[in-house]
Amino acid sequence: MSTKPSHLYAQDLVAGYTSRPDIRGVNLEVYKGAPAQGITGASGVGKTTLANALVGALKPVGGRVTFNGKAVSRLRLGEKKRYEATVRKVAQNGFFGYDTALTVRRVVEDELRAARKTGRGSGKSIEEVLDLMFLEDRFIDRKLHTMSGGERQRLSIALALTTAPDVLVLDEPTTALDATLKDKVSARLRDIVAEREIGLVVFSHDLNLLSRLTPTVHVLSDGVFVESGSPRDLLTDPHHQATRDIAEAYPEAVRALRSLED
Ligand SMILES: Nc1ncnc2c1ncn2[C@@H]1O[C@H](COP(=O)(O)OP(=O)(O)OP(=O)(O)O)[C@@H](O)[C@H]1O
Ligand SMILES: [Mg+2]
Repeated sequence: MSTKPSHLYAQDLVAGYTSRPDIRGVNLEVYKGAPAQGITGASGVGKTTLANALVGALKPVGGRVTFNGKAVSRLRLGEKKRYEATVRKVAQNGFFGYDTALTVRRVVEDELRAARKTGRGSGKSIEEVLDLMFLEDRFIDRKLHTMSGGERQRLSIALALTTAPDVLVLDEPTTALDATLKDKVSARLRDIVAEREIGLVVFSHDLNLLSRLTPTVHVLSDGVFVESGSPRDLLTDPHHQATRDIAEAYPEAVRALRSLED
């Protein structure tokens, strides 16, 4: 068996919905066990489009996405199922594609079954799955449509973790969480990602969240990464106009960081 870590690789990726695709030449490499990466950019710039192309939910218009050397868009059904359990995306807004009339019990059971079928079962109970994201047992018999936005976001993350993914792609994972829960969820995510050596990619406009989860952030603008650096460097010494615009949205963070340097 290969000892090489799982490798998700986007090369010259072009992806989008119109004749002028929003993603126009992105390169990104994600290894299991490597430091996490963040991707930021203005609303509508193409973060979700890139996330979808990266996990194989959207076919590239150009370039390619490979996982361990194989083009993701050409995986056969069985391989695709294994891939979807190995490289997981948590969709923006807690949208997980389940019928919202289903109960939490049913969707967690389905995920645990899928995990076993793809050889990625963890032997965890429903309670343990929920507890990872601070959801109490009282949620087990609730229907999805009765859950709040923040509860759904946390459930989506917990579901994604059931298959012990090698790569986890989070799209704006904490937008509906209050400050306390954002702290708890980001700290828990950091621990789980480190412990299980998950290759993490986080898409967010929230540099504060990214600074807790990812040492490196890429700035997406006009279809490409225009600048990469630590969240701190991007805030205090932005080079590209797109990065300056983002930094300006965080005047308090920038002032706090600058005063630390003085
Ligand atoms: N299914 C679709 N069909 C057509 N256009 C789409 C579709 N999904 C997104 N778009 C368009 O593609 C562009 C990029 O959208 P995307 O959702 O990737 O942006 P984003 O950076 O994730 O924004 P936000 O920060 O608001 O989540 C937008 O102009 C959007 O309207
Ligand atoms: Mg988005």
